[in-house]
Amino acid sequence: MITSIHHVGLQSPSPHAALAMYAEFFGTAIQSKNDEAWVSSANGRIRASNGSAPPRTASVHATGLAHVCIQAQDKAVARERLERNGVVLLAEPLPLGTGFHYSYARDQEGRLIEMENAPFLQSDPNGWFGHVAFVTQDLPRLTRFYAALLGCQASQGQRVANNHNVDRVAQLQGVDLEPVWISGLNLTLEFWRYYAPLLDDPNERQCGYTYLALEAEKPSEAKSFALELGATDAPPESVLSHTCPSVRDPDGNRLVFVSTRAVETGVEPLQDARLIDHVLPARAAYMAEKQRGKGL
Ligand SMILES: [Fe+2]
Repeated sequence: MITSIHHVGLQSPSPHAALAMYAEFFGTAIQSKNDEAWVSSANGRIRASNGSAPPRTASVHATGLAHVCIQAQDKAVARERLERNGVVLLAEPLPLGTGFHYSYARDQEGRLIEMENAPFLQSDPNGWFGHVAFVTQDLPRLTRFYAALLGCQASQGQRVANNHNVDRVAQLQGVDLEPVWISGLNLTLEFWRYYAPLLDDPNERQCGYTYLALEAEKPSEAKSFALELGATDAPPESVLSHTCPSVRDPDGNRLVFVSTRAVETGVEPLQDARLIDHVLPARAAYMAEKQRGKGL
């Protein structure tokens, strides 16, 4: 049984420096262990291991583990914390009628980040994780796999097209996409199927993040279950000196299974694992109030 989204993995020749912007955004410290660096928000973690940086800046809509979404209440404070650490916003943060303000950004090594701001929350300078996003060419296959693996419900969103603000946020022309979200754990998984625009290279893959780690009571059993669901075998990953089983999901994205015991012996526990369960109701209440204000 999967108990949480344990962390997102990336590689950098400077693991500590690669996570500096997360530490400042979340108002927390970087933990360094051997050649690994870790940063935890209240509800999630990111790990940088020593290795080569992404070979290129992948397109927003290339297939794969596409972006990590970080959220904060105050747009100006959040932006300043990112920009001080070499992060470049692709465009000005924009509302899309959901209560959040949205912007994509690139970290100092070209990885795609989404920053969402939640002005409907009480003022708090520190941020948290929102979701992890995959781009896929086969939405039903990939979301069936993750819903079954995580034991969570998938919810289909409305197709998005002809939306000038979405184009501006993504810095793409003529975005036409279909979303699915899988919620129920500490982080949401987001899935995008882009119908347009087409990639210049249809075989382009994401390369910014190296894997998604899931926490399981029994990692080897979780791996066996993933293989039954259509995953393929992958070499193990060493995390905090633990050998962690790994697979590739049906799209080829790498998943690593981390034992609940590894958490006890390594990184700090999450302080508020269900934080996003409080954000979404606050957003819904804010949107309902706005509708009433318009007399709708
Ligand atoms: Fe996203």
